[in-house]
Amino acid sequence: MAHIALLIGSPRRGGNTETLALSFSEGALSAGNTVDAIYASELDIRPCRGCNYCYRSEGNKCALCDDMPRVYERLMSADVIAVASPVYFYSLPSPLKALIDRLHSPIRNSFRVRRLCLLSVCADSRQSVFDSIITMYKSVLGYFSLEDGGIVTAPSVKDKGDILGRGEIAAARKVGEEIGKGL
Ligand SMILES: Cc1cc2nc3c(=O)[nH]c(=O)nc-3n(C[C@H](O)[C@H](O)[C@H](O)COP(=O)(O)O)c2cc1C
Repeated sequence: MAHIALLIGSPRRGGNTETLALSFSEGALSAGNTVDAIYASELDIRPCRGCNYCYRSEGNKCALCDDMPRVYERLMSADVIAVASPVYFYSLPSPLKALIDRLHSPIRNSFRVRRLCLLSVCADSRQSVFDSIITMYKSVLGYFSLEDGGIVTAPSVKDKGDILGRGEIAAARKVGEEIGKGL
């Protein structure tokens, strides 16, 4: 059983990302895990200024005043971090990227996370559209010696509801069911 922080990158509620993420979440909850969904675009998360104040401040406090302290707390208790995001220009939407950049802080050394997983959607029909996000994901796994809990990508989904009835929904649920095993 694991505690999962689910980072949701889409600003569009009820969209393809949230549908995929909720299926993952249902699977995870059915296997006895707990899930904390964090909607990046609904929080006040400012872009990292690269000042490295967090490296010298007491308690690694950031120079920016926004919602990140509460996000750090939420991530600190996670055994698994699941990232669910649409592709925006071959990358992540800026609110989610801003959140991830703020993990540059040494406060991340107090995290206990051991496993990640990735769920992503895009409008284009080519799987190669996910390449840059998958490269980033795998680089993070390697750098932090984290386990890969699974990757689900759903191409060819553009409008709200396009993902309904697609096999990736069941695949995301399956990743959720398995994600906490052995932790
Ligand atoms: C700003 C923006 C940039 C996008 N960039 C891409 C892209 O580079 N490649 C692609 O295939 N789809 C792109 N899309 C389409 C979304 O990935 C697609 O519509 C997805 O289903 C949206 O997820 P959501 O329903 O969770 O919001 C973009 C959409 C937006 C709004």
